[in-house]
Amino acid sequence: MPAAQTLSPAELADILAFYAEAGVDCALDEVAHDRFAEGAFPASALPEGGAVTQRASGDTADAPSGQSAPRRVLSRAPAVAPEAPRPALAAASLGADAAAAYAGELAASARTLDDLRAALASFDGCALKAGAKNLCFADGNPAGRIMLVGEAPGEDEDRQGLPFVGVSGQLLDRMLAAIGLSRAEHVYIANIVPWRPPGNRTPTTQEMLACRPFIVRQIELANPDILVTIGGPSSQALLDVKGIMAARGRWLTYNVGGREIPAMPMLHPAYLLRSPIAKRQAWADLLSLKARHDALPHRP
Ligand code: URA
Repeated sequence: MPAAQTLSPAELADILAFYAEAGVDCALDEVAHDRFAEGAFPASALPEGGAVTQRASGDTADAPSGQSAPRRVLSRAPAVAPEAPRPALAAASLGADAAAAYAGELAASARTLDDLRAALASFDGCALKAGAKNLCFADGNPAGRIMLVGEAPGEDEDRQGLPFVGVSGQLLDRMLAAIGLSRAEHVYIANIVPWRPPGNRTPTTQEMLACRPFIVRQIELANPDILVTIGGPSSQALLDVKGIMAARGRWLTYNVGGREIPAMPMLHPAYLLRSPIAKRQAWADLLSLKARHDALPHRP
């Protein structure tokens, strides 16, 4: 690739658009790092033979008739596998069912939320982990009577390791404050998927299935009196709701360890930021949530 100074503004814009589409949408450092050269396998430790290859400049993305384009050898690969598989490899090697079964075992073995966080941190069955900076486990008060479950962390959440701290999280806080609730006191917050999907795309069904046992266990351990699913994906994953616009604001039930609790799908604050007209519906749902919360019997 030519040096940056020799690129025209239009070429630079094309490259940035390419990065954004690939999920590379924030700069983490002033200079680029060549992670391939950085020593997972130092060249001196590599035996002869084997090759890691990269598409040579001038290769087309799709070679005619499905054949591979010519490849240029960059460095040698090790003849023996490294001791521990890297997360992306481990995730890729597990099928969706196996990943969900493994997640189920790990989640079931957790006796506390701290255990569960540790179990999730050790779980390599979801490929999103490999591209995320941080695990976003939860925020708010685990003893709060309302639990909110969103979709997946975004860029700010990934950087801070906390759910709902970016612009949509700030709107969520204002929405809660408008009905006298706060995450410091009344609300515990998590996501269906605790690692950021690249480019903030919606998590795939496979990613949600792999992580689902953890959020189910997290709800069990937090044991809230009211569950609110935020947005379509978490409403579908936890309440089997199809079509958030039709389902929002309806009270359903969710089974927490044998106890039926009221559960409501709500519109996602990111959607409200894009479609402020829907704030009217969100306000009606918030008032309904407030009424349910205030009608809860006192805890002994
Ligand atoms: N959107 C979500 O669904 N969850 C977050 O944590 C942030 C944005």
